[in-house]
Amino acid sequence: MTTLGTPLSPSATRVMLLGSGELGKEVLIALQRLGVETIAVDRYDHAPGQQVAHHARTIAMSDPAALRALIERERPDLVVPEIEAIATPVLQALEAEGVVRVIPTARAARLTMDREGIRRLAAETLGLPTSPYRFCDSLAELQSAIDAGIGYPCIVKPVMSSSGKGQSKIDSPADVRKAWDYAMQGGRVSHGRVIVEGFIDFDYEITLLTVRALGEGGRVETHFCAPIGHLQVSGDYVESWQPHPMTDAALREARRVAQAVTDDLGGQGVFGVELFVKGDHVWFSEVSPRPHDTGMVTMVTQWQSEFELHARAILGLPVDTGLKTPGASAVIYGGVDAQGIVFDGVDEALRVPGTDLRLFGKPESFARRRMGVALARDGNVAGARDKAKLAASKVRPGLPAR
Ligand SMILES: Nc1ncnc2c1ncn2[C@@H]1O[C@H](COP(=O)(O)OP(=O)(O)O)[C@@H](O)[C@H]1O
Ligand SMILES: [Mg+2]
Repeated sequence: MTTLGTPLSPSATRVMLLGSGELGKEVLIALQRLGVETIAVDRYDHAPGQQVAHHARTIAMSDPAALRALIERERPDLVVPEIEAIATPVLQALEAEGVVRVIPTARAARLTMDREGIRRLAAETLGLPTSPYRFCDSLAELQSAIDAGIGYPCIVKPVMSSSGKGQSKIDSPADVRKAWDYAMQGGRVSHGRVIVEGFIDFDYEITLLTVRALGEGGRVETHFCAPIGHLQVSGDYVESWQPHPMTDAALREARRVAQAVTDDLGGQGVFGVELFVKGDHVWFSEVSPRPHDTGMVTMVTQWQSEFELHARAILGLPVDTGLKTPGASAVIYGGVDAQGIVFDGVDEALRVPGTDLRLFGKPESFARRRMGVALARDGNVAGARDKAKLAASKVRPGLPAR
């Protein structure tokens, strides 16, 4: 049975988000609607989620002492990681001490915080199909991994990175040093370790949102959303749509893989399982133990968005993954490096029929920083993609008038 309290009172159900970007902001809004008291944590002030939460806290979440002190002071009922760069051993210790429940589990947060933990789990422990891969700590090791079987083309990524940072494709021996140097600049911490993966020539890639939620009787049940197709440019998502058509065999296999990974990671909540598909063949790529950026499209396509699903699942409430309409999302980049930018053309964007918009409210813009997203529904995915791209193109970020 789930009992929820009254926020800002002794009975409050208190949830702490670690990371309060655009995805955390939507989870926070979903929690607010259920009367949950929310604490939004980020490494900088006025992060998107901090603007909609009861409490805002700014700390270095990768600093174990700072993270432990904050959690011990606030004593939330649930800690919900929204990003990967967190001192996850502290979460494991606090979970073991019974101080907090971590979503979905502290172990899942640790295994997915770098590429090595989750890849070895999926490929070596669970035996799931993945691209061929090796981990390397030097340029020489990278070269010999490629020569010894990974071959060309291949992809190099820092083990600690996201959104395509430090990631590049190697087509021939001439590219190897450049890819290594680029990875060394792009990693989250100067770690010096990379994964090199054989290039998968997939027909398409999807995110299969998978929800672990309590059913009647309190047992965890697994629910799948309709597959989300997406387009990545330089390892960063620029467009997504739902549903992406799949053969019955490929969909069955995608669900089998997603079920195996999420069963092992455990806990309750939404997982974004990234899969490559060619014909009926499916490869596991990676998984987020939380809502996924490509899943922002569900704010227009599903009765319950991935953020509402996450909020419900972590609180022990029932979920409905039903699709409402085909739809699409298109990313709006900052275009400029500046603080406090303005957005022109919002009215024109929203005049595109069947569209909606999210502007994240990030205090600082970078040329390639995601600042907003256009959403669109239509009778079919192709129409929705056109509308989403059109609406996104109407929004013109710019420097504030002085
Ligand atoms: N082995 C691969 N073969 C082909 N494309 C890949 C491979 N690995 C990554 N990609 C492409 O790069 C994108 C980003 O890679 P991913 O591993 O998901 O990194 P991130 O953690 O930054 O999202 C993928 O969505 C896919 O389009
Ligand atoms: Mg990815």
